[in-house]
Amino acid sequence: MATAFVPSTTLRLRPYSTLRCLSFYPKNLTKPYPVFPPLIRRSPISPRRFFSSVISGALHSGERTKSELAEKQKGQMGSKVGEFRKKLKIVDVKGGPDEGLDRVGLMIVVAGWVRTLRAQSSVTFIEVNDGSCLSNMQCVMTSDAEGYDQVKSGLITTGASIWIQGNVVPSQGSKQKVELKVNKIVLVGKSDPSYPIQKKRVSREFLRTKAHLRPRTNTFGALHLYNGLPLAGALVARVRNALAYATHKFFQENGFIWISSPIITASDCEGAGEQFCVTTLIPSSREAVESPVDAIPKTKDGLIDWSQVYTFGPTFRAENSNTSRHLAEFWMIEPELAFADLKDDMACATAYLQYVTVAERDFVQLSYTDAIELLIKAKKKFEFLVKWGCDLQSEHERYLTEEAFGGCPVIVSDYPKEIKAFYMRQNDDGRTVAAMDMLVPRIGELIGGSQREERLEYLEGRLDELKLNRDTYWWYLDLRHYGSVPHAGFGLGFERLVQFATGVENIRDAIPFPRTPGSAEF
Ligand code: 4AD
Ligand code: MG
Repeated sequence: MATAFVPSTTLRLRPYSTLRCLSFYPKNLTKPYPVFPPLIRRSPISPRRFFSSVISGALHSGERTKSELAEKQKGQMGSKVGEFRKKLKIVDVKGGPDEGLDRVGLMIVVAGWVRTLRAQSSVTFIEVNDGSCLSNMQCVMTSDAEGYDQVKSGLITTGASIWIQGNVVPSQGSKQKVELKVNKIVLVGKSDPSYPIQKKRVSREFLRTKAHLRPRTNTFGALHLYNGLPLAGALVARVRNALAYATHKFFQENGFIWISSPIITASDCEGAGEQFCVTTLIPSSREAVESPVDAIPKTKDGLIDWSQVYTFGPTFRAENSNTSRHLAEFWMIEPELAFADLKDDMACATAYLQYVTVAERDFVQLSYTDAIELLIKAKKKFEFLVKWGCDLQSEHERYLTEEAFGGCPVIVSDYPKEIKAFYMRQNDDGRTVAAMDMLVPRIGELIGGSQREERLEYLEGRLDELKLNRDTYWWYLDLRHYGSVPHAGFGLGFERLVQFATGVENIRDAIPFPRTPGSAEF
């Protein structure tokens, strides 16, 4: 679903404090540009990300400070909110400032899934995760515990769901401060031995085929780092959640109102209007013999009768892009600013991105024309030829942000009008428009935006040039008839932001159930 944010008042951030405008660059540039390096130099493609306090806070949202714990306990006694959180979760025990030591002596019940089970001669260790945090509860059990026979007989295995009661005790091990000394264990749902997510390392590709079980593991193939911590599968989901929270917080705090824009539309405005075909009428090869293609209902003229076919659900780009940065269904953050120009747009995008992720980094801005010149002069062999007028490919975008500017996010502006959407505001040179793309390391384009054409005659002229029917855009033109104002906006691909923030290489791991061309599993 597209999420649109519309300003209730003009947004005037302190715009240019962190946005550096680059109108000149050394024409013989061969190595990272020395004038606007980031204040602190880092490896351009470092997987380590630094989160704002909002993100860190939301990331550990289940975890409580001492005062919050006191609040919660108070809530349990009376308030309605306390009702649904009556049962202590692992996060309530281990997530506190004392990592659980303040809970020693307490008898608690943990209901969760077995991550691992290790039976030693006199004692059995069961790692249980209840989904409340990434941390497991180590449960220590001896043969006198009620229900031990189920462990002994091998009924309780990795993946099984269990209910376990015990006392919080200081842990003998160094990995955790507390553990649970088990009094009683009950098997809730046994797990077939074929449970695919065993402790041994499994690849991200494999886990994608088990997306429904993916949240139950912390292991996500290659190790990514988040502030030095292993970045796990479940953690990606938590970062995604935190980024969504921070996104709303940023826009709400800056005078925007969240609106729900429609997903189904009859007009193509971006030139990305390929249509999805979702049908059960075209048989798969297995069924072809029994239900030949001829069975598809036809009109009198022999054309397919699409009136019997419908699409349902959030449907976005049907472009056939099988890359690590494209999805067929993705989320986009789209702010729109009234009484704003391209500079305001760039300032808003910069402030937003810095708010949610890279607060300490500088951003570079240069024009498309300068970027092309820089790419032509680069001592690098690109697969796609660079010349003025061409659309920047991922390799060009990544070169700019990763190599030419040493890992700084780069905003490229003022693109040729031919490669941008009709609604972007025409510049005085007659050949470029007030568009901007923000490029970031490892991803390339993260944001695409523009100042919109608010002048009626220019807009109509552009529609005519592109042979688009004015009548279908009547309401869009109306907005220029009645109190038109300069305005600008941008779209940020949310999954790309998750990739950027986490270091996850493939966009298919940035959303729980990825939809890509030809794939709608789960
Ligand atoms: O640059 P785009 O196409 O811009 C728009 O759609 C404008 N309507 C936005 C606006 O001005 N309100 O897309 C915006 C961003 C891209 O920069 C990219 O991050 C993401 O959306 N994006 C995709 N993400 C995942 N999969 C895809 N197939 C994507 N296509 C675009
Ligand atoms: Mg774009």
